[in-house]
Amino acid sequence: MKKYAVFGNPIAQSLSPTIHSMFAKSCGVELEYTKVLAPIDGFERALTDFWNAGGLGCNVTLPFKEQAYALADECNPAARLAKAANTLMRDENGRLLAFNTDGIGLVTDLNAKGASLQGANILLLGAGGAAKGVVQPLLEAGVNTLHIFNRTLSKAQEIASNSESARVVAVTLESLAATYDVVINSTSASLQGTLPDVPAQVFQNCTVAYDMVYGSKPTVFMEYAKDHGAVHEVDGLGMLVQQAAAAFTIWTGEKPLTHDVEQYLRELKQTS
Ligand code: ATR
Repeated sequence: MKKYAVFGNPIAQSLSPTIHSMFAKSCGVELEYTKVLAPIDGFERALTDFWNAGGLGCNVTLPFKEQAYALADECNPAARLAKAANTLMRDENGRLLAFNTDGIGLVTDLNAKGASLQGANILLLGAGGAAKGVVQPLLEAGVNTLHIFNRTLSKAQEIASNSESARVVAVTLESLAATYDVVINSTSASLQGTLPDVPAQVFQNCTVAYDMVYGSKPTVFMEYAKDHGAVHEVDGLGMLVQQAAAAFTIWTGEKPLTHDVEQYLRELKQTS
């Protein structure tokens, strides 16, 4: 049986085994996908054990994404810019290849949810690990401008400077443009049930307000965006499914259908 896994700490909450099992079934691929709770200081050891046991590929989640990137022999551009990887595999020579599929997952889901990214003006809230992973794929999707607003301005400035693109601009609260086509919340504020500091007018012409977080009900950010003019509010469940689909394709070459998987997970979280 082909062996895949997701590494994290904590990991019990991970939906990845459910998602990949559904992908495998729909593509007619036989695989085993498990969760690995790696010790905080024992990721590299756990990864080595996995390869030695015949593992073919894995996903990596918090807090090991930066370490996964650092261990790699080769990285795709998204992982290089984020300095973090969520997908690993080894080539025929045993070289460790690292990818970051979070950004392509976001872009694919934004497209699926009706956001037109070509020529769009985007506001990205937050400048942590989640933000870093999505900048390059958003640029590749043809956005006109990508403004980054973060509580700590210097982190937004660092991402803008690393992107080496004039389209990426770190903005202050005072210099935020009045309106954006798409507003993306990558801060961890929703996890604490709070709203990042953002003026209501940014949602006036907003087609999609996207929160990378997901839960059993809409986040405070989604509610706020809806109350202030956003046409659609979307949570991050679709991004989770799409980043997994991109990883599945990297490993197997198959392109799994995602709609039913997202639907199933949505029903699952309604009842949990
Ligand atoms: P992740 O990997 O999930 O992005 P992170 O790297 O710790 O996590 O980054 C969290 C992001 O959420 C940061 O941009 C953080 O802002 P600071 O850089 O100023 O710390 C942002 N954040 C967290 N809580 C927030 C809040 N209550 N309001 C606004 N921004 C918040």
